Amino acid sequence: MLEKMNEFFDKRLDGYEEHQLNVIESANEFYPFTAACLPVNENAAVLDLGCGTGLELGYYFELNKTAKVTGIDLAEGMLKVLKEKFADKSLTIIQGSYFDVPFEKDFYDAAVSVESLHHFTKDEKIPLYRKVFEALKADGYFILTDYFAESDESEIFFRKELIRLKAEQGIDDNEFYHYDTPLTVEHEIQALKEAGFSTVEILGQWGATCAIRAKK
Ligand SMILES: C[S@@+](CC[C@H](N)C(=O)[O-])C[C@H]1O[C@@H](n2cnc3c(N)ncnc32)[C@H](O)[C@@H]1O
Repeated sequence: MLEKMNEFFDKRLDGYEEHQLNVIESANEFYPFTAACLPVNENAAVLDLGCGTGLELGYYFELNKTAKVTGIDLAEGMLKVLKEKFADKSLTIIQGSYFDVPFEKDFYDAAVSVESLHHFTKDEKIPLYRKVFEALKADGYFILTDYFAESDESEIFFRKELIRLKAEQGIDDNEFYHYDTPLTVEHEIQALKEAGFSTVEILGQWGATCAIRAKK
């Protein structure tokens, strides 16, 4: 059964972090790697899309205690844990969809997203990435760490499966359901470039997971 995105994560809150770190290949490497790509300057403003309980932010706050982070997530329970974990940090929490929440323009030194954006199509991502582009300062950048489809066929297969499952379960609303539909890394890079990013590079790769940096 497909589950609504926020309910899926809130239901699995117990043991969520252990699952991410122990079950996902090389997670103990790509979380600290992602954090180390973020700015270390004092009061750096960072936007986290789909921050969840803040696994990447734990590593980041170790490197930059003065960072001012805005975290956006759909799941109330995940955000409650986040708030408790980082009560002493400068953290603005927004419960909502990053597709809908307006971002302050020319404000952030960097944006980051880890393991959240593999649920959406290229067409859905381009306007979101445009919004991220506009939210960044002139020398800002976006670090996207996520897992990617191994082929065009696999990308198409999972998208069709989601459509089939929604039809089978009589789901015809526009809400987000948890079902992984990763793009290929090539299509992800195209989406970032089409949104306006000037330089898009793969900084690290661990199996199906890549860390991508998109510079404004
Ligand atoms: C696998 S968790 C990753 C959380 C965190 N970044 C980490 O790596 O531990 C994916 C998160 O993305 C959030 N999410 C998915 N779609 C979203 C959307 N459209 N807007 C905001 N958050 C979203 C989910 O609620 C969930 O907390």
